[in-house]
Amino acid sequence: MSNKFTNGLLKRSPWHIKESEVTPEEIFKDRRSIIKALGFGAVGAVGATIPSVANADIFSLFGKDKPAKKFATAPLPFTKQTNYAGAEIVTPYSKVTTHNNFYEFGTSKKAPAENSQEFQVDPWTLVIDGEVDRPLTLGLDDFTKLMDIEQRTYRMRCVEAWSMVIPWLGFPLATLLKRAGVNSKGKYVAFETLHDPEQMPGQSNRFMGGGIHYPYVEGLTIEEAMNDLTFMAVGLYDKTLPPQNGAPIRLVVPWKYGFKSIKSVVRIRVTSQRPPTSWNQLGPSEYGFYANVNPAVDHPRWSQASERRIAEGGLFSATRIKTLPFNGYGDQVADLYRGLDLTKNF
Ligand code: MTE
Repeated sequence: MSNKFTNGLLKRSPWHIKESEVTPEEIFKDRRSIIKALGFGAVGAVGATIPSVANADIFSLFGKDKPAKKFATAPLPFTKQTNYAGAEIVTPYSKVTTHNNFYEFGTSKKAPAENSQEFQVDPWTLVIDGEVDRPLTLGLDDFTKLMDIEQRTYRMRCVEAWSMVIPWLGFPLATLLKRAGVNSKGKYVAFETLHDPEQMPGQSNRFMGGGIHYPYVEGLTIEEAMNDLTFMAVGLYDKTLPPQNGAPIRLVVPWKYGFKSIKSVVRIRVTSQRPPTSWNQLGPSEYGFYANVNPAVDHPRWSQASERRIAEGGLFSATRIKTLPFNGYGDQVADLYRGLDLTKNF
């Protein structure tokens, strides 16, 4: 029987499609709708009081030469399409790619799109190791050549009380973990973002990087990681991920606050102990390990009962809607937390 991992090379890698074949990217430059970070402790306060610095070209601010090659997304075919957001309106591509949190490129919402366009993802290596029988090392091409790419439209709810509806392209994390063969000691999964301060200037400057101790790390229980909703995204809409959304591969956990959905992942390690997570390390009383979307448990400094749905147009076109427990995915995931006090385990 053919094994996609050994005799793959089934599809052409979208990352190697020539730039001339690629649809031109829409670069959205509206500086009027700068949205102040809603808190994040000292980090938010800094980002909010000095937006002009937070939005500046951080390469030139720190005297680094910008790499010359511009990032280009490429068309990414998919074989299956599922909508997990009902009749809700999908957030426009221009918003999904210009209103971001990716502190490695700066703390304002516009900074990731503005500062990441020279990010190099080729070569890329993703290692899956730890408590597994068959550790895997995947290169950039493997994500699309070896995996069946599907589109899943999910709600995404940020802990800052804004949300979007995003059509991701990728594959379930469980597919990868099953190939690696999790052993009986595997109780958690730890994720790690690329550590490359040359490319990600926020990593070498505490002020630009919002005080996070880099590399950014995240974690899930093995049951959460194996849930069918847990997704590794390599694209959005119908093309590969742009850098500001976590190219070339990021996690998407739609029932948890957005900070769990770690970007630009280089390592997935199955562990026996609960791994540390970046926002929990920075503010343990505000950001828990579970971080399930929960309108009944407020953030210490703001309510989580409702959210601002980002839509077409500027800040004032966004609508305020009620936040749903588990972000509306309770039917699929509530069982994972039976018997757990979600007020304590926030
Ligand atoms: N991953 C890394 N490596 N660095 C980050 O700063 N921000 C998180 C998450 N993943 C972040 C990250 C937060 S707070 C959110 S809300 C989501 O990415 C935002 O994803 P988006 O920009 O694609 O909407």
